[in-house]
Amino acid sequence: MQMILYLMLLAANGEFRKISRSFICRLRLLHHLFTLAMMTMYNHFFLHFVFLFLFLFLSLSQISGSNLHKTKVLTSDFLPGAASSNNTPALTEYFEVTKPIELPKTKPCSEHILHHDFGFTYGRPPVLANYTPPSHCPSHTFSKIVLEWKATCKGRQFDRIFGVWLGGVEILRSCTAEPRPTGIVWTVQKDVTRYHSLFSSPHTLAVFLGNVVDQTYTGVYHVDVTILFYPSNGYAPRSKVGALAFGGGVPADLVLPISRNLPLNDGLWFRIENSTDEGLKEFMVPQNAYRAVLEVYVSFHESDEFWYTNPPDEYIVANNLTNSAEGGGSFREVVVTLDGKVVGAVWPFTVIYTGGVNPLLWRPITGIGSFDLPSYDIEVTPFLGTLLDGGIHSVGFSVTNALNVWFIDANLHLWLDGKSSTTEGELVEHVDKPLSVSLVSDFEGLNGSFLTSAKRSIFSSGWIISSYGNITTSFVQDFVYNNSMVLEKNGDKQTVNQVILFNDSVRANLPSPFVDDRYSKFSIYIYEEDEPGQEDDTTFSVTNVTLGFDKNKYRSSAFGVSKSALKNVQDGQATMVIRGNLVVRGHGETQQDYSYTSDGYCYSREVGSSNYTILYDKVTHSCNKRSHYHDHGRNSIKRLFIM
Ligand SMILES: *[C@@H]1O[C@H](CO)[C@@H](O)[C@H](O)[C@H]1NC(C)=O
Ligand SMILES: *[C@@H]1O[C@H](CO)[C@@H](O)[C@H](O)[C@H]1NC(C)=O
Ligand SMILES: *[C@@H]1O[C@H](CO)[C@@H](O)[C@H](O)[C@H]1NC(C)=O
Ligand SMILES: *[C@@H]1O[C@H](CO)[C@@H](O)[C@H](O)[C@H]1NC(C)=O
Ligand SMILES: *[C@@H]1O[C@H](CO)[C@@H](O)[C@H](O)[C@H]1NC(C)=O
Ligand SMILES: *[C@@H]1O[C@H](CO)[C@@H](O)[C@H](O)[C@H]1NC(C)=O
Ligand SMILES: *[C@@H]1O[C@H](CO)[C@@H](O)[C@H](O)[C@H]1NC(C)=O
Ligand SMILES: *[C@@H]1O[C@H](CO)[C@@H](O)[C@H](O)[C@H]1NC(C)=O
Repeated sequence: MQMILYLMLLAANGEFRKISRSFICRLRLLHHLFTLAMMTMYNHFFLHFVFLFLFLFLSLSQISGSNLHKTKVLTSDFLPGAASSNNTPALTEYFEVTKPIELPKTKPCSEHILHHDFGFTYGRPPVLANYTPPSHCPSHTFSKIVLEWKATCKGRQFDRIFGVWLGGVEILRSCTAEPRPTGIVWTVQKDVTRYHSLFSSPHTLAVFLGNVVDQTYTGVYHVDVTILFYPSNGYAPRSKVGALAFGGGVPADLVLPISRNLPLNDGLWFRIENSTDEGLKEFMVPQNAYRAVLEVYVSFHESDEFWYTNPPDEYIVANNLTNSAEGGGSFREVVVTLDGKVVGAVWPFTVIYTGGVNPLLWRPITGIGSFDLPSYDIEVTPFLGTLLDGGIHSVGFSVTNALNVWFIDANLHLWLDGKSSTTEGELVEHVDKPLSVSLVSDFEGLNGSFLTSAKRSIFSSGWIISSYGNITTSFVQDFVYNNSMVLEKNGDKQTVNQVILFNDSVRANLPSPFVDDRYSKFSIYIYEEDEPGQEDDTTFSVTNVTLGFDKNKYRSSAFGVSKSALKNVQDGQATMVIRGNLVVRGHGETQQDYSYTSDGYCYSREVGSSNYTILYDKVTHSCNKRSHYHDHGRNSIKRLFIM
């Protein structure tokens, strides 16, 4: 049977659509209009097409937008495999390709903490549960703790951002998968061992997932959160205790929340709405801390969901798009301050949420980082001396060029001196070279090309004296950024190439010097083009995406030298034929190559999909290229965890 896809292009008419395509769609106000329009159209559809099984409702925003996907797309189903038989179809399993968590060979105790059906939760308080340390486990020392998020959903729904906090400390930032009428399921497993200290006392677990359920957005997310505790098998390297905070892999003794306090009708994150907005949190640290790391969580939404595709303001102004398009240029930087001093920056990886650019790209292989958004560590030990006075201090977050809205918060990981009630220290050097950004801009009307480049370097160094001795720590961040954007065909074609190179390095002069270097490369290529289709009154829309996340690490400490290298790249191609308000056909294909090596351990996976079907899936988990194939039938993607 041939499937026909109907796409509703809301507000997709006339002039409005022509220019705004790419630009308007992410506005909140429009979003509400879409909702209303969709509800109306849905009824209309139902009457007229009640015989057809199909349907995909892509909220127009995405589609009509030529180049810029900035839209929220809402799909039901239209692709082969949906509703195609009388048998109850299996749930489609979505997954993010990542390496399996390295686990000890011990039997975990599990604790189910929360079950909730997230219906209409937008604008409501987070869902809360009481966490108490597991009492039923035979052992109470754990070498690994894993958070498991499992969810199912059926119907039509947008991708929704969510966060999980324990005692106000964020432990997962993620995005839901978009459902099908036949139902989907997905699981996120995250190693949360670095929050170990939190798990040893009772806390409130909070989950905020702002969902909207009505006649159009029918998907309710049914969620279970479980924690798996893996007992340690005896070994604890106690002798080198002073060095443990540096390279011993021992989690912090205390993790402080740098987030908003409950009660809230929102997530605990700060909302950063523009370039002058600042999120500020006051806190106090125990006076015997000897190492401090600030872990920052970041996600970008609405007008800045696709910040890297936003043209410069001068283009927006010249084309009279001020009220309809997102500008601000393509560069964003999250700046983190401590008592007003810049301690570090985050140039974020361009996570594409599960409905982003073209939602057909992310089924069932979801975008890199979309199920487990990366967090970013800023070493603040050089500044620790200034925090040990027993007074109140503050962390601030702001975003250069921000448009509404960014969700940001952080966790302060602190290692405490077990043998002394006070430590002491001093910031010795702090170099915060001003951000340098350049823009080469050349445009005529809606056609143009823009090259944006930026550079930044932040350095700090300071000493802390504790019972482990006088340790001087230095931290450096070096960033380089390039974004090339070309708009052609009066804005109907957009090509963006962006790369962020990011090095950071922590050094400490322990008895045995500690070096922790990280080299990251975040890249994205997006091409999107609309042209007249072959049939009358149709538009053919093509999208290609390449998303790359590479990270190399080098660490040398009293515990030896370790190195790791991750290369993770996704290529996606998607097309759509649109007639009037309907998408007649569409499909999406994704290929991902993931390769991780670390000290003799290797894991790689090459997987490709087309319209929900896995075409190939090759997993290699030894360094000598021995591999095996997993043959998956449709809708039966297996998790490939290897220990
Ligand atoms: C930026 O956002 C803040 C918080 O909503 C608001 O108070 C402020 O007026 C905004 N500034 C500008 C320039 O829009
Ligand atoms: C923008 O608006 C102004 C004033 O309404 C008009 O003169 C100008 O031609 C418009 N420019 C474009 C590119 O539409
Ligand atoms: C710790 O070491 C630094 C650098 O060598 C030095 O400047 C500082 O005075 C020392 N602190 C103490 C309390 O000895
Ligand atoms: C990162 O380090 C590498 C190796 O030293 C160097 O080639 C590269 O230029 C550095 N990148 C940045 C952004 O400093
Ligand atoms: C950024 O662009 C400039 C100018 O085209 C080029 O010289 C440089 O190598 C680029 N850097 C990166 C990291 O791509
Ligand atoms: C923009 O480029 C298209 C071809 O891509 C051309 O037809 C159109 O005339 C150009 N518009 C302007 C204002 O130069
Ligand atoms: C888009 O992807 C298709 C399929 O791989 C390829 O044939 C085409 O050349 C790509 N176009 C661009 C501009 O990236
Ligand atoms: C996906 O859909 C497209 C368009 O309908 C079709 O050409 C392609 O063969 C489909 N792929 C698979 C694996 O069914």
